[in-house]
Amino acid sequence: MTIKPLQIGLLGIGTVGKGTFDVLLRNAPEIQRRAGRLITVAMVADLDIARAKTTVGDSAVVVNDARAVIANPAIDVVVELIGGYGLAKTLVLEAIAAGKHVVTANKALLALHGSEIFAAAQARGVMVAFEAAVAGGIPIIKALREGLTANRIQWVAGIINGTTNFILSEMRDKGLDFDVALKQAQALGYAEADPTFDIEGVDAAHKATLMSAMAFGIPVQFDKAYVEGITQLGAADIKYAEQLGYRIKLLGITKRVPSGIELRVHPTLVPAKRLIANVEGAMNAVMVHGDAVGTTLYYGKGAGSEPTASAVIADLVDIARLSQASPAQRVPPLAFQPDAMSDLAVLPMSEVTTSYYLRLRVADQAGVLARVTGILADAGISIDAVLQREADEVGGEGATSTDVIILTHDTQEGTMNNAMALMQALPTVLAAIVRIRKEELS
Ligand code: HSE
Repeated sequence: MTIKPLQIGLLGIGTVGKGTFDVLLRNAPEIQRRAGRLITVAMVADLDIARAKTTVGDSAVVVNDARAVIANPAIDVVVELIGGYGLAKTLVLEAIAAGKHVVTANKALLALHGSEIFAAAQARGVMVAFEAAVAGGIPIIKALREGLTANRIQWVAGIINGTTNFILSEMRDKGLDFDVALKQAQALGYAEADPTFDIEGVDAAHKATLMSAMAFGIPVQFDKAYVEGITQLGAADIKYAEQLGYRIKLLGITKRVPSGIELRVHPTLVPAKRLIANVEGAMNAVMVHGDAVGTTLYYGKGAGSEPTASAVIADLVDIARLSQASPAQRVPPLAFQPDAMSDLAVLPMSEVTTSYYLRLRVADQAGVLARVTGILADAGISIDAVLQREADEVGGEGATSTDVIILTHDTQEGTMNNAMALMQALPTVLAAIVRIRKEELS
């Protein structure tokens, strides 16, 4: 007996939709041998009908109304590739209500509204799959949810935004300032025309929020994430970090600590010798530390047509295999059974513990360093390393100020905030103190 093909409806056939269509067609026999049935794109909804028809030819019905796909009883799975959390949210909920399984690459939607969407899917007995939402083609959802299922996961840290990693790589390689590197990223098509979500860390925070939920069995809580992008980073800090043996990466970090869960995105000093510090250009990488397995690392393309399609199709194959199973036999979307979620609190940033890189522009006078280190000592913050350049080297001949760079050991962010306020108030500290968090990832 041959099993009937799994019929797919694509909502949106832009870059990822085209990749999904092309790869499904190109690798159809291989995918069918794995899935046990054919997976076919039967219907496509896109406002640009002409573009959609160019991509799919006569092989699928093309419409400009997404609801026509959802209403079609022959469609088993709706693949949402519209993006955003307005119309996309409505359509996903409508597809679930219509009894369709849903595959989405939409991290923003799930990071903000995941709890509602997963609950609706569970109530209706359908699957919502989202491998493509985090780190594109890297199967990190599969790893967190299935491969590492034996582990008590302790932390996850990842380069999960290719645009910012490209910008940081260019800044380090070529000594460029942020604005120049951003323009290059835009010219090369890495950054969007409006790159705000990338450079402000929001896109990475959406992905970190999803990984946090899957690592620790907590609800998705984007509103609790601390988010800091790379727009304030200077070429000088990248250079100083390098001199101290570190690279600066925009990391999405989530950690289990005794008092709760840390969930944060910010530029981070990482030891240059770590593999993840050497992930360059638009590539992504995610480290996961589990108590049994130790530290693991996943690397690959975090965006792009076929890498993202690779993840979308992996979800389609899961659905082809599991859609007939009872919901209790399927892998829970957030790795933990929905009735076994934890209420561990996501900690405010002031309660996060990490180590720090501080850069102070100071008057080149006797006693300045002593006063600064005195404030840190009074706060109980231990210094790991200090770097001071000659004033001439920093500000040119005859300069009367210089940079002091301090690396600290671990301390609580609230303690550091207080110490920074005291240091900032010193008349010999001449500019806003630069603070970048540091992680050893060991
Ligand atoms: N804009 C993202 C990035 C890709 O630069 O990595 C999609 O999440």
